[in-house]
This record gives sequence, C-alpha cells and structure tokens, in this order.
Amino acid sequence: MNEKFLNTYKRTGLILEKGKGATLWDKNGKEYVDFTAGIGVSSLGHGNPVLVKAIADQAAALIHCSNYFLTDISIAFTEELCQAAGFESAFFCNSGAEANEGLVKIARKYGSDKNPNKNKVVTLINSFHGRTITMVTATGQDKFHKFFGPFTPGFSYVPANDIAALDKALNDKTCAFLFEPVQGEGGVLPLDSEYLHQAQKLCRERDILFAADEVQSGVGRTGAFLACKKLGLEPDLVSLAKGLAGGVPIGAILARGACTETLKPGDHGTTFGGNPLAAAAAHAVLSQINQPAFYAEVERKGEKIRNAIKSWENPLVKQVRGMGLMIGAAMTIPPGDVVTACRERGLLVLTAGEDTVRMLPPLVINDDEIDRGLTILKDALATLSSSAR
Ligand SMILES: Cc1ncc(COP(=O)(O)O)c(C=O)c1O
Repeated sequence: MNEKFLNTYKRTGLILEKGKGATLWDKNGKEYVDFTAGIGVSSLGHGNPVLVKAIADQAAALIHCSNYFLTDISIAFTEELCQAAGFESAFFCNSGAEANEGLVKIARKYGSDKNPNKNKVVTLINSFHGRTITMVTATGQDKFHKFFGPFTPGFSYVPANDIAALDKALNDKTCAFLFEPVQGEGGVLPLDSEYLHQAQKLCRERDILFAADEVQSGVGRTGAFLACKKLGLEPDLVSLAKGLAGGVPIGAILARGACTETLKPGDHGTTFGGNPLAAAAAHAVLSQINQPAFYAEVERKGEKIRNAIKSWENPLVKQVRGMGLMIGAAMTIPPGDVVTACRERGLLVLTAGEDTVRMLPPLVINDDEIDRGLTILKDALATLSSSAR
C-alpha cells in the first residue's frame, strides 16, 4: 500500500515489471501466468512486436492531433473496424464508461427527436456499465447505488432472461435497452440467445434502440469480433473499449442506421478520443485478430480451459461457464481465496460477481501458457478443497 495513491483498490502488493505473451514478471523476478490480460485489455498479450512497433512508429510520427483533423491511420482503422463489426460509423473516446455515456446520449437524442419524453433507458439487474455517475446509475447492481447521489434520472432495471419483465418495462418513453451479451463484472453470465433475439424484436417493434455494451465481450474475446455477431444479433449501437487497442486507452461507439445521423457537430466530443497513437495501436490489434482462424483459436482455447476445470471435478467448483476466452468458475468459497492461492503459486486470475473466479487471458495465449496456468489452478483448488474439508 502506497499512501500517495487514493485508497480505491484492494491492491495485491505485487509490483509488476515486464511481460511477454501471457507471462508477467514482478520486480523480484517472480514469474506469473497471466489469465487476466489487465481485466481483458491486453488482447495481444504483453510485448507483441507488431503492436509495439506500430505504437513506436506512430509516436515518432504524430502522437496526437485534435478531432478537428483526421489522419491516414485513423481513417484506415475506422474503415477496418466498421467492416469487422458490420457497422456504418464510429465515435472514439477513451474508456468503456465514456463509450456508454456517449451511447446513452445518442439514444436520448434519438428518442427526443421523436417525442420529448422518450428518454428512458432500461438495463439489466446485475449489469455493469462503468463508474461515471450516469454509468453507475445504468449499472443494475444496488451495491453501486450508494454514496454518490443524486444519480442520473431515467434508468430502470429488469431481471436478465425474463422477456415478460422486459416487455412490461419497454414503453413509449423508452429510448434504449442496454445490455451486456455476456455479463462480465456480474459473474461471467452469458445471456440466453433466445431472450436476446426476442428483446431485439420487441425493441424494433417499439422503435427502441437495441444497444449492446461489448466493452468486455467485444474485440474477439468470445471467439467472434462481437459476441452479438456470434449470436446473430444486430444491435443499433455497440460500445467497445478494453481490448480494442491492446492496452492503449480507447473506447468506441459503433452505430448503424438512423443512429449514424443522430448526433450533429457540437453535440458530443472528446479531446483525446481515437488520437493517432490509439488508432495505430488499435489498427495493429485489429489486423492481427480479425481472421476466422484467430477466432477459431480463441474458441478452442476457451473450451480447453473450461473442459479442464470441469474434468477435475473439484467440489469447490459449482459451475464453469463463459464464451471463448471469457471464462467464469462459480465457487462454493469466496473467489478472492482462489485469486490469492493462485497468485502465490504464479498465476493471475480475477473475481467477478459474488462467487466467481474470472479468467480473461490474452487472446494470443499459447497452449504451453494455458497448461502452466491450469496446473497452478488445479493445485490451488486441490489445496483449498482439502483445507475446506
Ligand atoms: C461491460 C462493461 N462496460 C463498461 C465498463 C467500464 O469500462 P471502463 O473501466 O473502461 O470505463 C466495463 C469495465 O469493466 C465493463 O466490463
């Protein structure tokens, strides 16, 4: 603990120094297999030579210019991103919360252009959408709705996978339904595909925007560029961040159809968003991940990890779930105990929700790193389960 930092994180005491692929080293030279990718960010792992070169070359040429100007790299990246995601246009910002803020602004303007009261947003209980005041309001977990009020009006919450509840909640005052196709912070909970298809239909019938928060599930994490693509859904708006530039801060809103024309000059903006450095990094990420063979590998590696954990039949593991390399193991003991036991043995994993150990390895993790990580996880769980008996 260093008192110069505000006390906002339960830090581990680890001081990291360097990384390569899905391996990290701390300052004392101890090695860790990385099943976290910095909470789903380092999609190409650590020290990826193509990404490093793209950042270094762009830094030498032009790090930043304002959004009043374009650069060749931002044009090339944006075209490729829209193509990869199947959207028409994009807005860039700096984080997931900021992407969701902009998404809600688009939705509210879209709604108010039709009817001044059409500004309500429905989200899901157990969701997570970020840490700004409006995004903690959008987040459907009560534990976030403390201390920081007054909160932004106009949000309501329904239980996931309950189409009758959604049907009741979506009315002529609703401008958008915002959901994570796989709830990440809530516990790595993939939503039911049938439910999402019915939700999309309800939204279309009522002229309500169907908006996906793919900040965690996007950019190849689930074995497709977007989880929505994998599920055959066509949201009007999508937010992205985390893995998009492999560790350089970036957020994005993708829009299609009428949503591409909602905002006019002056309605929204940002100083840093999508600057040449971030665009060059994101371009390098996209050029490496956006290939069918890459996504197939993400699927295979995710299955491998899930199947291995299931095969141990450790009594502490209640359920293994997820999509691609977005993996959750629900535990009968506090998941923080597993995180600590793994870290002591040289594996980094995360928690999510009340009871879940979450794994978001770099998408490029190789089989050797997976095997090393699984050996440590198996040993940590075996030790914890024998001491729980
Ligand atoms: C689904 C989802 N949305 C939004 C956010 C917020 O992103 P950021 O921390 O970049 O603001 C997160 C972060 O974990 C997330 O998982």
